[in-house]
Amino acid sequence: MQEFGSTCLVARAEDGIRGYIFGFVTPGGTGYVHLIATRDDARGTGLGRRLYTAFAEAAERHGARQLKAITSIENTGSIAFHRSLGFDAKIVDDYNGHGLAMAVFHRDLPLNIS
Ligand SMILES: CC(C)(COP(=O)(O)OP(=O)(O)OC[C@H]1O[C@@H](n2cnc3c(N)ncnc32)[C@H](O)[C@@H]1OP(=O)(O)O)[C@@H](O)C(=O)NCCC(=O)NCCS
Repeated sequence: MQEFGSTCLVARAEDGIRGYIFGFVTPGGTGYVHLIATRDDARGTGLGRRLYTAFAEAAERHGARQLKAITSIENTGSIAFHRSLGFDAKIVDDYNGHGLAMAVFHRDLPLNIS
């Protein structure tokens, strides 16, 4: 974690942590989101979008020209969320090994979504 702290962002409020996004920029210039989550009682308020916007700005400062994320094909909420943010979503067979398909998201930067 200490090696990519500048692209790991946490949303804090008086009542604690409401969400976070952890990722890094690859040598090839991809801002890769390892995970994003918002607290149950903060969902649907635009926090996930704001976290992605902040991550995209940090990733661009580190040279990223596109974003990538993956999720399980069962995670329909995540797929809908990423589509709302303008990501292209594809189901890639065998992504995680034989018989293990994943939903793979790509989007060019800049991210003008706020
Ligand atoms: C996915 C997640 C991060 C979304 O966070 P959020 O704070 O609710 O997202 P926002 O309120 O910023 O929503 C942004 C857009 O996505 C859409 N969206 C978010 N969750 C959605 C869902 N479950 N179904 C359909 N659309 C959804 C919103 O409607 C909104 O669209 P709009 O701006 O066009 O109206 C949150 O539901 C979560 O933490 N899920 C569990 C963890 C997870 O699955 N993470 C992703 C994989 S690592």
